[in-house]
Amino acid sequence: MAFVHPHPFVFLLILLPISAVAQNDPGYVNVGSFLTATDENSTSWLSPSGDFAFGFSPLKQKDLFLLSIWFARIPDKTVVWYARLDNPVPRGSKVELINDRGLVLTGPQNDELWTSNSTGTLFGFMNNTGNFVLQDSNLNSLWESFKDPRDTMLPAQIMERGGVLSSRQSENNFSKGRFQLQLGDDGNLVLHTINLPTDNPNEAYYESQTTAGDNGTLSPGKELVFNESGYMYILKDDNQRVALRSERVESTADFYFRATLNFDGVFTQYSHPRTSNASGSWNPIWSVPDNICVASNAKIGSGTCGFNSICTIKPDRRPMCTCPKGYSFLDPNDPYGTCKPDFAQGCDEDELSPGNYSFEVRKNTDWPFSDYAYMKPYTEDQCKKSCMEDCMCAVAIFRLGDSCWKKKLPLSNGKVDSNLNSGLAFIKIRNNNSITRPDDRLPNPKPENENQNNLVLMWSMLLGGSVFVNIILIVTICLGFFFIYHKRLKRPILNVDAVEMNLRCFTYKELVEATDGRRSVDLETIGEQQAILTDWAYDCYQEGRLDSLVEYDVEALDDRRKLVRFVMVALWCIQEDPFLRPTMRRATQMLEGVVEVPVPPSPYPYSSSVVVRSSRRD
Ligand SMILES: *[C@@H]1O[C@H](CO)[C@@H](O)[C@H](O)[C@H]1NC(C)=O
Ligand SMILES: *[C@@H]1O[C@H](CO)[C@@H](O)[C@H](O)[C@H]1NC(C)=O
Ligand SMILES: *[C@@H]1O[C@H](CO)[C@@H](O)[C@H](O)[C@H]1NC(C)=O
Ligand SMILES: *[C@@H]1O[C@H](CO)[C@@H](O)[C@H](O)[C@H]1NC(C)=O
Ligand SMILES: *[C@@H]1O[C@H](CO)[C@@H](O)[C@H](O)[C@H]1NC(C)=O
Ligand SMILES: *[C@@H]1O[C@H](CO)[C@@H](O)[C@H](O)[C@H]1NC(C)=O
Ligand SMILES: *[C@@H]1O[C@H](CO)[C@@H](O)[C@H](O)[C@H]1NC(C)=O
Ligand SMILES: *[C@@H]1O[C@H](CO)[C@@H](O)[C@H](O)[C@H]1NC(C)=O
Ligand SMILES: *[C@@H]1O[C@H](CO)[C@@H](O)[C@H](O)[C@H]1NC(C)=O
Repeated sequence: MAFVHPHPFVFLLILLPISAVAQNDPGYVNVGSFLTATDENSTSWLSPSGDFAFGFSPLKQKDLFLLSIWFARIPDKTVVWYARLDNPVPRGSKVELINDRGLVLTGPQNDELWTSNSTGTLFGFMNNTGNFVLQDSNLNSLWESFKDPRDTMLPAQIMERGGVLSSRQSENNFSKGRFQLQLGDDGNLVLHTINLPTDNPNEAYYESQTTAGDNGTLSPGKELVFNESGYMYILKDDNQRVALRSERVESTADFYFRATLNFDGVFTQYSHPRTSNASGSWNPIWSVPDNICVASNAKIGSGTCGFNSICTIKPDRRPMCTCPKGYSFLDPNDPYGTCKPDFAQGCDEDELSPGNYSFEVRKNTDWPFSDYAYMKPYTEDQCKKSCMEDCMCAVAIFRLGDSCWKKKLPLSNGKVDSNLNSGLAFIKIRNNNSITRPDDRLPNPKPENENQNNLVLMWSMLLGGSVFVNIILIVTICLGFFFIYHKRLKRPILNVDAVEMNLRCFTYKELVEATDGRRSVDLETIGEQQAILTDWAYDCYQEGRLDSLVEYDVEALDDRRKLVRFVMVALWCIQEDPFLRPTMRRATQMLEGVVEVPVPPSPYPYSSSVVVRSSRRD
């Protein structure tokens, strides 16, 4: 009789201490084992086959790590599971398998960041399927990564009713995104967006339609199965299978598989050759929905792309988001995010003259919601004119030969859809945008630092050395304080009054007081002259003689509208009554031209400076 090598579990049950055994068996992890997040040859717990690893994977951002499970044999180390945290963990973080607690992730200061909460844990096992399992002494599974999935399912993984996959924020940001795949309690598999930070769902953009039916007579879906051969289907109560897509898949002997809810909302099954040869990559086998741009129709939320954006489907069935002309991404680093208009649409009579706006015309483009007016019968010209003369109108849609819809911001579910039968979208944009964006004129734009760009822009204007300089300086100080305040927040310099005050613009004098008076002499002098200068500036503004403020400032003369805007903001910022001053946010928005600047009142309603004024004038 041949000697049968005992199963490791036999050792576990018979021999003590257990750790001595488990340590020697590939894939097993004993209580007390730990991993530390470091760059160099970062250690991990490998499955016996070496296909999967559990541990810290380094992120693109330096010194940040993700506690995760990944494909260990392929060059791009694709992550299939990760601990969901608000932020990636820093170098020096540690994950340890602790008796009675399970996996415990702590930061470099020993602060607990995450735990699997599994009491009774005896050991862990990194299965060849990619499932990391914690078991107790009776070999009951206490926690499994397969039962706590993130955005990916692997062959041999099953999702029960109520199970959810959640997308990440973006390819390299593992925070929770707004797309979800869910097998509902009614047996229906759906894809929908949620209203972050809550899980409250919007209308589905994909449904498997595997419910019990209106009459309750059909067999509902029970599980979403990704079987070991790489086929994905819904198993119904009556054991019938409904394939998500009946695509033939290659052999698991030659290929890895995964099904991932991508950060852009498309659920895709991929295959990857097992050869660890670098030429291999993940190839999509199928995906749902067929066209996410067209399928997305939720009345609430932005849709597939951000607000005001337009979704176009690419040949690989993944969406691409673009801003209409005259709009740009709110977060330049997020090309799937919201687009903002680069101009302000005013409702004042002179602003509305047709010469100030024009239309960008796009075929087969629509934002199906955000309608506020529907005119019919109407001609194309009437439709355009009506939108042009209406300061609420952001877009007019003309379709079906006689129908005109007017739409307001924010626009949602923007899409290119050939089923729209050449319907036209007239997107209203402002001509000769008076606010030349700072990024347009500065080399090496750093769009994420728009506030700072404003500062740079204004400091560059100071070179003119004119009186205007001083007005701008005051605005600069308003913004400058914003930054200083943020740096100094931790120091007890500001009293309560000052903190309240800082939410609004600061005058120079208050700034000096709040910052211990550490300022250069030049600025001191200007501070003393402030009352005289601003008063004069206000008069110039009122009398429309702003040019006399500027003298040599060619850049400012180039763009008189911007000058007027800056001075108006400055005059708001130096109001004697602090409660009239705009907040920092508002001031920045006004400078950028995102919001209208109301006509400022005289900065010194209480302290009359008639004497100073007349004596200087004459
Ligand atoms: C990491 O591994 C490489 C070879 O695999 C070795 O040369 C190097 O010394 C290791 N670094 C550390 C810090 O262990
Ligand atoms: C673990 O349990 C604690 C307390 O019951 C809870 O606050 C925490 O969210 C749980 N963690 C996980 C990952 O479930
Ligand atoms: C690994 O996973 C397979 C498939 O789910 C399962 O049959 C096997 O028992 C697992 N191994 C261990 C040690 O848990
Ligand atoms: C990921 O995205 C979230 C939400 O947009 C953001 O708060 C977080 O800072 C991002 N994390 C990283 C590492 O960029
Ligand atoms: C539900 O019942 C109605 C009439 O009772 C029938 O017309 C309909 O076809 C049924 N639907 C399903 C899905 O069985
Ligand atoms: C997986 O599902 C496919 C299609 O339903 C079937 O042909 C195959 O035999 C299944 N494989 C396993 C291991 O059950
Ligand atoms: C890499 O794989 C491809 C096919 O998958 C094969 O044609 C090629 O020869 C392989 N290269 C190496 C270096 O193994
Ligand atoms: C455009 O708007 C400005 C005010 O913002 C106004 O002065 C001007 O007359 C308007 N019309 C044209 C045709 O420029
Ligand atoms: C906008 O600028 C263009 C060229 O710079 C000019 O032809 C057009 O008349 C200007 N429009 C307005 C309303 O000033």
